[in-house]
Amino acid sequence: MVRSIGSDRINAGVFISGTGSNLENLIKFSLNKKLPININLIFSDKYNAKGLRFAKKYKIKKKIYLFKNKMNDEKKILKVLKKNKIKLICLAGFMKILSKNFIKKFDGKIINIHPSLLPKYKGLKTHERVLQNKEKFSGCTVHYVNSKLDSGKIILQKKVKIRKNDTVDKLSKRILKQEHKIFPEAIKKIMPNL
Ligand code: GRF
Repeated sequence: MVRSIGSDRINAGVFISGTGSNLENLIKFSLNKKLPININLIFSDKYNAKGLRFAKKYKIKKKIYLFKNKMNDEKKILKVLKKNKIKLICLAGFMKILSKNFIKKFDGKIINIHPSLLPKYKGLKTHERVLQNKEKFSGCTVHYVNSKLDSGKIILQKKVKIRKNDTVDKLSKRILKQEHKIFPEAIKKIMPNL
């Protein structure tokens, strides 16, 4: 099935913990009708996540759950998702690990972006480890979320060459640019299955 952009859009929620550059990028793509999704909800586990400012800027509903009691918060989130008919969850720099139960309820509909060429460098501090190990390449990956950290089926990946004088800052900026390209592309790719 091919979805024509603009006619058959699905509702999406984006989960963030930090800056939210991927969030804003996805919002812009959806507003420019380059992606057949409406971002209706922004979730965060932090009151002070910088990216929450995009809720105000783009008039999108935001919800904050601190995940102190994960099961309770996930129950509440599931209710909100249902009420808002959310069909796709994008994790964009979201630092909490969702439970198996939660993932099962949204099986095949939760995707994550990770700043490495998975399956290499799962988890945190990817750029530091990549540089320490003197890798020639790093990159970014969009993948489905399953119950193991950064381990679900890969949807799209982009390689980025490591430069001689690279630093964590320089490398992460170059990779982030690529993230902004592949996240929307990955969503387009999986649209027929949502
Ligand atoms: C990105 O590098 C993403 O791959 C990782 O967290 C970072 C989030 O950046 N999971 P931003 O908040 O979207 O700017």
